Amino acid sequence: MKAVLLDGFGGREVLKLGKIETPSAVEGQVLIRVMATSVNRADIVQREGNYPPPKGDSEILGLEVAGTIEALGPGVSGWKRGDRVMSLVGGGGYAGYAVAYANHLISIPEAMSFEQAACICETYITAYLNVFMIGGLKDHESVLLHGGGGGVNSAAVQLCKSLVPTAKVVVTASPQKVERVKQLGADLVIDYKVQDFAEEVKAYTDNKGVDVILDHIGAKYLAPNMAALASKGRLVVIGVMGGAKAELNIGLMMVKRLQLIGSVLRARPVAEKARITAEFTKIVLPKLADRTLVPLIHATLSLDDVAKAHEMMEAGTHFGNIVLRVASDK
Ligand SMILES: NC(=O)c1ccc[n+]([C@@H]2O[C@H](COP(=O)([O-])OP(=O)(O)OC[C@H]3O[C@@H](n4cnc5c(N)ncnc54)[C@H](OP(=O)(O)O)[C@@H]3O)[C@@H](O)[C@H]2O)c1
Repeated sequence: MKAVLLDGFGGREVLKLGKIETPSAVEGQVLIRVMATSVNRADIVQREGNYPPPKGDSEILGLEVAGTIEALGPGVSGWKRGDRVMSLVGGGGYAGYAVAYANHLISIPEAMSFEQAACICETYITAYLNVFMIGGLKDHESVLLHGGGGGVNSAAVQLCKSLVPTAKVVVTASPQKVERVKQLGADLVIDYKVQDFAEEVKAYTDNKGVDVILDHIGAKYLAPNMAALASKGRLVVIGVMGGAKAELNIGLMMVKRLQLIGSVLRARPVAEKARITAEFTKIVLPKLADRTLVPLIHATLSLDDVAKAHEMMEAGTHFGNIVLRVASDK
């Protein structure tokens, strides 16, 4: 099968299109003919050599796929060859075929294209897991989401407005993305390049602060995030784009009774990801199926243009998701 291979770790020049053996579905897995996958920030970190796949998962980049079932592994029932599915994968998305656990599969709704389906699992499930299942955002609370034009965070803005319409949604963005984030429904958008987001949050919430923060900046934002949290606030950290080591004000954490929670999706055990997928399928999929929620696709490129797709993400000019078309059913 064709696949994007890594010729060492480093810049975009290490991405090489090549041919390798098609994987086989083992117990509990299916083999998917990949029609589309998407580019996530983690792919770039993995390409650079700083995010190895969990043990047993494919070394090939790509954390989510959409396609058709090609073959069922031993012990799989309830699915058949040809079914249109999307799935999280621990790796292996940038390839003609990928294996996925049957209990991670989500049936693609009829009106949804493979390209749209390819940018749901990693982004919407991450946003749902961390803002709702872990962060526990509730009616009449407020949430701060950083970088609202990115894949995960544009999904998070949409989910917050759709699942908890009474919540106040505050979002940071670079100046050129502020207007589009407002159009997604954010109640307040802060230009993080020039404004002090902690001060803006305090002014907006009458000094109370927000109840939940979804953060992927890490060290650089730890202190301002804690300042922006309300009493009993929950800070869920899912990335370290701004560094991994910071000084923690434990006193402030105690006085405000804050919860600081780190979270990753990829490294969770199969059964845990299955439970998360099942809840996501029950709560969020109907909204994607009836198009209340529509994934934002910035660009769709061919797998051959993978370096261009990475360049786009690294430049940060995208709004929403960058999709790679792998095969075509036409
Ligand atoms: N832990 C997990 O399970 C998990 C799962 C998925 C993703 N993630 C992490 O989530 C993050 C987003 O991933 P993605 O694939 O959605 O990437 P992405 O599309 O490139 O989004 C990154 C966003 O970060 C924003 N940003 C950069 N610097 C910022 C700053 N100083 N303040 C506020 N926003 C800033 C960018 O906004 P502008 O373009 O407006 O500057 C961009 O919208 C990554 O760190 C990724 O590793 C974690």
